[in-house]
Amino acid sequence: MEDSISKLCFDQSDYILTSDSYARIRIQALFHNIYRLLQTAGMAESEDHKLLTIDQWNEWWKKDYERSKSKGSKGGDICEHGDEDNPFDQASPMLRKHIKSLLPNAIRKRIFLPLCGKSPDIKWLIDEGYEVVGLECSEHAILEFFEENSVEFEKSVSTKDHSFRVYTGKTANVVIYEGDYFKFNSDIAGGLFDAVWDSASLNTIELASRKPYVEIMRSVLDKQAKYMLSAMYFGEKRTWINNPFDITDADMTELFGEYFTWDKVDEEDSEWGLERVFLITCK
Ligand SMILES: C[S@@+](CC[C@H](N)C(=O)[O-])C[C@H]1O[C@@H](n2cnc3c(N)ncnc32)[C@H](O)[C@@H]1O
Repeated sequence: MEDSISKLCFDQSDYILTSDSYARIRIQALFHNIYRLLQTAGMAESEDHKLLTIDQWNEWWKKDYERSKSKGSKGGDICEHGDEDNPFDQASPMLRKHIKSLLPNAIRKRIFLPLCGKSPDIKWLIDEGYEVVGLECSEHAILEFFEENSVEFEKSVSTKDHSFRVYTGKTANVVIYEGDYFKFNSDIAGGLFDAVWDSASLNTIELASRKPYVEIMRSVLDKQAKYMLSAMYFGEKRTWINNPFDITDADMTELFGEYFTWDKVDEEDSEWGLERVFLITCK
């Protein structure tokens, strides 16, 4: 699988898969790229469980953006989008399958995507009629999202915290905040969220920062909100030491048990790892 993923990420023209297969392995492929990024940074085998710094993520996305510009097509090294010839830019099948459990009625529809990158889930949710709010530290990831989806936007600085920039869609119901998740709060967000779709984000948070991550999430959620978490469990297939990390049932209880209830609603195995989907609600 590792070889297949490398091919997909770095030589997509050689590799033909059906749309469904592309969508299913999108997240796994993304993790594989994170691992490669860590290897490049000499962090893959590090035992200190450090997170990639925001500067390292920014640098990675900048290269992706430049590569995508020079190719004159969508997407670069980061496996979140393909190009015109392949259907890599599909929303998560798990999101599509479970959206009605996450946002069961039409009134509650403001959904938050933490650490969103340029995920195709953003566009899919917009097209489904939701009000989408993303948070991402990299300007280049955000620009790629808007440019690749032909969404016009306005850029401003948050009046609540000048370290955040705000990209407001003019032709689509989306706002993406550029800044550090660990500085985010409901003031900056302009109110609480009705739902969260967390795809591959908690997995990438260093172990010591998981609790602060969940605390921030709790502070930006409405009491009635639902939080859907797509979390990878690599188990024995995890041959690396550092990021991305496993999320186990014990982790779920430790992180969410005090203030939330959680249920596993789905799972799908692959050669790369097990994707498990949890629905989390406030107690
Ligand atoms: C694993 S990717 C998430 C992928 C995305 N959720 C998806 O479904 O395709 C992690 C993303 O988080 C961003 N990121 C990392 N640390 C961050 C931080 N402290 N604040 C905001 N964004 C961050 C990275 O730039 C990267 O785009």
